[in-house]
Amino acid sequence: MENEAKKIILSGIQPTGVFTLGNYLGAVRSWKQMQEDYNCYYFIADLHSLTIHIEPQKRRQQTREAFALLLACGIDPEKSLVFVQSHNKCHAEMGWIMDCCSQFGELSRMTQFKDKSAKHPDNINAGLFTYPALMAGDILLYQADYVPVGADQTQHLEFTRDVATRFNHAYGETFKLPEGYFPKAGARVMSLQDPTSKMSKSDTNPKATISILDDEKTILKKFKSAVTDSEACVRFDPEAKPGVSNLMTIYSAVTGKTMAEIEAEFAGKGYGDFKTVVGQAVADELRPIRENFARLMQDRAYLDEEMKKGAERATYIASKTLTKVKKRVGLLLEK
Ligand code: AMP
Ligand code: TRP
Repeated sequence: MENEAKKIILSGIQPTGVFTLGNYLGAVRSWKQMQEDYNCYYFIADLHSLTIHIEPQKRRQQTREAFALLLACGIDPEKSLVFVQSHNKCHAEMGWIMDCCSQFGELSRMTQFKDKSAKHPDNINAGLFTYPALMAGDILLYQADYVPVGADQTQHLEFTRDVATRFNHAYGETFKLPEGYFPKAGARVMSLQDPTSKMSKSDTNPKATISILDDEKTILKKFKSAVTDSEACVRFDPEAKPGVSNLMTIYSAVTGKTMAEIEAEFAGKGYGDFKTVVGQAVADELRPIRENFARLMQDRAYLDEEMKKGAERATYIASKTLTKVKKRVGLLLEK
């Protein structure tokens, strides 16, 4: 599986609910494509999810589901390393060391921390504050070359590079500096009800998001009620026609058609036809994922086995860096 000549790609996703069509088209689908060209490490960031307090049983369920979803989306454990973050103890240990290499001032400037603490003033826990240090550890442990992340995480990646640079400077060359990776095919999918804001797992209006596990009927219904405009013309213009443009983006991402081809295909047709065709294309794309997921969730022994294999290999790889880091900072290694 491992090929020394290939660059390392690493990314994590929090187990905070079923992925949306946005997660899929914007991230997970390209993770699948990258498996051929890179050594890919993908993990479920359950430690990061602890910054949000939910029912323990729900967290366990969501972690298992997120793992199964990655496999259902075509991440192949024979090709990629897939694991649950907390199953590799190196992350927590490295996280603490990274905490001690992070400055209060720089963590205070993180926009995600500012946003999340403003939104949830009742739970501004220390984990929310040091979240970027844990994330830096995730990345640096594996000497990743590239990290595919959305716009909301680029500041954390910059932070990771800063910490790594400082560490290398203070203790000698230890970490590779990771770069962001922005796949060309990654589409930014907007809410079906408010096409000026991103489609998000946390949206409270169920009509606004497509879950990748929605069935065909639900998908068609949600597309039918998607917000458009009164011009009745399928034309790509994100400023003036955000709703229609979003549907075109989705259709283009799923079928590979260009905007010009899509405009030609629907010339003279109404939005009703357009929405049905887009909905159908999405339903066809998601059907195998839904079926794979259902099958995987029935086979608990297989999932457990893959998690175990992933954890062992992740621990093996990460331990090498962690041991080096512990030596560098002067922790006495046990014999
Ligand atoms: P999150 O759901 O915020 O944890 O995001 C996980 C990954 O999915 C990140 O890489 C995001 O950039 C990506 N993602 C989330 N929502 C969307 C969206 N609406 N469009 C495109 N990519 C998205
Ligand atoms: N913070 C990321 C998010 O919420 C998840 C994550 C944790 C991550 N550790 C990572 C992503 C390391 C990339 C690399 O989306």
